[in-house]
Amino acid sequence: MWEWSKITIVKGDITKQKADVIVNAANVSLLGGGGVDGAIHKAAGAELLKECKKFHGCPTGEARVTKGYNLNAKYIVHTPGPIWRGGFFDEQNLLRKSYINSLKKAIELKAKSIAFPSISTGGHKFPLDMASEIALATISEVLSKEENEIENVYIVCKSEDTFDQYEKSKKKMAG
Ligand code: APR
Repeated sequence: MWEWSKITIVKGDITKQKADVIVNAANVSLLGGGGVDGAIHKAAGAELLKECKKFHGCPTGEARVTKGYNLNAKYIVHTPGPIWRGGFFDEQNLLRKSYINSLKKAIELKAKSIAFPSISTGGHKFPLDMASEIALATISEVLSKEENEIENVYIVCKSEDTFDQYEKSKKKMAG
């Protein structure tokens, strides 16, 4: 049974979060980078990159699963969110796909908890207010429709303004 109380907005570092699945805002190379991608690779250790190389990249909006290595997670789900280019290149739908496909992988893995960063709102420049509403709407849609064992969804925000925006969007959507 879905309820909004299953989603918790967290202020902090996702590499310190405990969850069955931790989601990485990757890029299409899947070879690491900056931001949360860089932090996850640094915290997980060098073995993560070795496993990522096997995928030979990942298209925007799709998701690939690796082990969690040194993170407090059984698995990491890597998804490249869209790069914002004004909203004329289907970016909103591609961001939705990143959340849908990450959740589908977590459901397949019988995860009870999943932690997301704010996908695409850093280096990929997606407008934060729009991205937060797409994230929350998609998470609630998928978890109320699909059979799943997910009890907790964490959205881990590194910055105060991201945290405040997600809290605001959650209040607006949850009523
Ligand atoms: N924990 C939680 N959130 C984090 C962390 C962290 N350790 N580090 C960064 N963030 C936040 C950023 O502040 C931003 O709010 O994650 C959000 C997404 O920002 P990015 O990490 O830049 O991701 P994105 O916008 O999806 O761009 C991805 O940037 O870092 C490169 O390799 C990455 O090419 C890819 C692109």
